[in-house]
Order: sequence, then C-alpha cells, then structure tokens
Amino acid sequence: MSWFRRIPLWPRSLAARTAFVLIIGLVVVQTLGLGIHTLDRNDLVRVAAVRVFTFRVMSIYRDLAETPLAERANRIGHLPVPKNFTVQLSPKIDPVFATLMPTPPPIRHSILINMDSFPLPPELRPQHMRFAVDPETRREFTGLEMPDGTWLVISSHLPGPGVIQGTEFLVAFVIMTVLAAALTIWAVRRLTAPVRTLAAAAEALGRDVNAPPLPEDGPSEIAAAASAFNTMAARIRRFVEDRTLLLTAIGHDLRTPITRMRLRAEFMEDDDQRAKMLSDLDEMEAMVSATIAFGRIASPNEPVSPIDLAELLRTVLDEAGDAAPEIVENLRYEGPDHWTVRVRPQAFKRALTNIVGNAIKYGDAASVRLAPPNRPGASLRIEIADNGPGIPPSEMERVMQPFQRLETSRNRETGGVGLGLPIARDIARAHGGDLTLANRSEGGARVTLTLPA
Ligand SMILES: Nc1ncnc2c1ncn2[C@@H]1O[C@H](COP(=O)(O)OP(=O)(O)OP(=O)(O)O)[C@@H](O)[C@H]1O
Ligand SMILES: [Mg+2]
Repeated sequence: MSWFRRIPLWPRSLAARTAFVLIIGLVVVQTLGLGIHTLDRNDLVRVAAVRVFTFRVMSIYRDLAETPLAERANRIGHLPVPKNFTVQLSPKIDPVFATLMPTPPPIRHSILINMDSFPLPPELRPQHMRFAVDPETRREFTGLEMPDGTWLVISSHLPGPGVIQGTEFLVAFVIMTVLAAALTIWAVRRLTAPVRTLAAAAEALGRDVNAPPLPEDGPSEIAAAASAFNTMAARIRRFVEDRTLLLTAIGHDLRTPITRMRLRAEFMEDDDQRAKMLSDLDEMEAMVSATIAFGRIASPNEPVSPIDLAELLRTVLDEAGDAAPEIVENLRYEGPDHWTVRVRPQAFKRALTNIVGNAIKYGDAASVRLAPPNRPGASLRIEIADNGPGIPPSEMERVMQPFQRLETSRNRETGGVGLGLPIARDIARAHGGDLTLANRSEGGARVTLTLPA
C-alpha cells in the first residue's frame, strides 16, 4: 500500500481516496471507450467517402463513355463535376501513375467493390484501371481506359485517417465524466458516513460512558459494527459501575468495624496507646470516606451540562481562599471572563478543588490560568501553578496512583490520604481530557488539565 502514498495529491480520507480511485478509473475507461468509438467512426466515414468518390468517378466515366468521341472534349467542360474533382482525357496512360505512390490495397479494394456495384452496360466497362495517391496532397487519382482506348483521369481528396469528427464527442465526454464523478463522490460520501459516525461515537464514549447508543440500522455490515460497538459500550459501563459499587461496598462495610474498634479503644488503660489507636482509627476512617467519595465521583451518573468554566474557577479559588485566609493574596485567576464548556459540573468542580487544594497545601499559592483552544479542534487548558517545592520528576507517575503521597515532613501534618490527584485525573479522562504534572523553572509545581474542544 505504501507506494500509493507517493502518488501526487493522494488524499488522506477514506471517502476522498475511494472517490479518487473510482474517478481515475472512470476517466481511463471513458477515454478508451471514446478512442474505440472514434476509430470505428473514422472507418465508417472513410468507407462512405470512398463510396461517394467511386460513384462520382463512375458517373463521370459513364457520361463520357456514352458521349460520342468527337464531343467528349466539349462535354468535359459541361459535366456536373463536384468542386475538388479534376477530370482529364488523354490519348494514352497518364504519367502520374508512374510517379505517384500506388493506392493502399484496402482503399483500392473498396473502390473496386463499389465500381462493381455501379450500373454499367457490359460493353462500356473500362478496359484497364490504375490507382495512385499523392501522399502530400492526399489526392486520389483514378485512371480508366475507355472502350476506344483513351484514358480518363479523375482525382479528388479522400479524408485522412484519425480525424476526430466535431466537438460533440468532447462535450459528451466532459458531461458524462462530470456526472459520473458527482455520482461517485455522493455515493462514496454516503457509504463512508457511518465510519465518521462510529469515530464520533467512540469519541463521545471516551468522554461519557453514558453516551447514547448508536442506531443499529443501515447496511448489514454497518449495523453489525454499530451493534458490536453498543455491546462494548455496555460492557465498559457495567465494568465502571461494578468497580464503583465494589469500592462503595468495601468502604461501607469497613465503617461498622471501625466504629466498634473506636468504642473498644476508649476502654484502653494506657493513655498513650489509646491516643495512638484513636489517631490510627481516624486515619482509617478518613481513608474509608475518601474511598467512598472516590467511588461516587468516578461514577458516571452525573449528567453533562454547559457551565461557565471561568466562573467555576473563580468560585473554587474563592472557596479555597475562605479556608486559607493567610495566603488569599497568592490566589490568582487569569483568562477570559466567561467560557462555556460541557462537563459534569459536580465532578469537574471536585477535580479543580483537589488540584487547587494541593497547590495551596504544598505550594502556598494557586495561580490559575484558563487558556481556551488557540485553533479549531485544539484542547482547552487549565494550568494551576504554585510556589512550593514541586514534585520530583521520578515521582510524578507515582503520586497519580491512589493512596500514594510524597513522604516529606511537610505533608505529614497536612494529613491527606493520597486520592486527590487520582480522582482529578480520573475525572479529566472521563471528560476525554487528561491531567499532567510539571515543575516550573522558577520553582513550584504546575498541574495542567486539558479538555477536548
Ligand atoms: N502542588 C504540589 N506540590 C508538591 N507536591 C504535591 C503537589 N500536589 C501533590 N503533591 C504530592 O502528591 C501527593 C499526592 O497528592 P494527592 O492530592 O493525590 O493526595 P494528598 O493531597 O496527599 O491527599 P488528598 O487525598 O487529601 O488529596 C501529595 O501527598 C504530595 O506529596
Ligand atoms: Mg490532595
């Protein structure tokens, strides 16, 4: 297949490629057909021209042969001779037949056959005949010996081979090609439309597992592909639901034993041990709550709706500022005043809150920048930067995993469970986007959330 790509103008899309190949094939077939037709037609024209020529020659011959010898010279001047014809009488054979080329056999045969069918009394038949052609002027010379021994020489033009007759062929060719090409393009576009639908459906499923199923109609192959796609989407949906259910169930079931353990811990004698036990139980409870929240957030049941993303970002910053008034001057928003996106509002807010929360917790600042797509089809970017220590590049993939934290003295006291980033990335990916980590050259981390246009 690779040599195809070296064809100049080789198109990229399936529809354009198919149309391209079909139209090229069509033009070749049309040209061949037209060529064969033209050759055929030229043959016919030549046969007809020879026939007309021969009949004219024979009528002149008959006219003169029936005229008495003495009046012939005079009669030549009054013959109804078509223009282009020359008629000569000479007592002996004309020297042109010695100097010119002999007439090609097919034309000579054709002349002879036509002569045979010309009505002529037997006693008037020519004694001898000569044929020659002048290749330069394409004049055909016919010499006929009269019954009395004088030679009659008649010459005229014969049409040459390979003449394309008129422009109607060309017009017909262009009209037929254009019509067939239009039909091809229309049919190919119609046939490849389901492929585009399938691509759009896969894209929609990436953003939202609850995207509506594909219609299972149309040609049988397309219906089968749509049905397979719908089955796959249903399996993915069930898988996501099962995972969510499992997480929630484990979280829920762990709560009761934790409560029981807390009650028992109260009866412990050793104050120091009891305090440690209760703090461990607090941590477990926090993890269980976070797990249940993770399950709930990751569940795709929230409907997608349009929201003002700029407004949402400002709200998240305001709420974070209320919780951390000492660094409120380090919270900044930069970007358009309004920008509408279609997302699951609650989940999306959760993702942004997690990232902004991290920036404040580990970096004492949050400057949020909203960069709308810079060209059609590009992604929207939300960048959240801080002034903290950043994240070592070797740890970037690890901190995206559930329950993974950087073991630095700072975040011990901050007491998270390590679900903030995985949840945020899950939500970004459920919207067809992604979450990436980077460090700023000036110091501090920068988290980038992208969202497809
Ligand atoms: N902006 C940041 N600067 C430096 N380190 C960060 C930043 N954001 C996250 N980290 C590191 O990545 C780890 C994981 O972050 P994540 O948000 O997933 O969990 P967490 O903040 O520890 O707990 P929580 O579940 O409460 O959010 C953090 O413990 C922290 O060490
Ligand atoms: Mg966090």
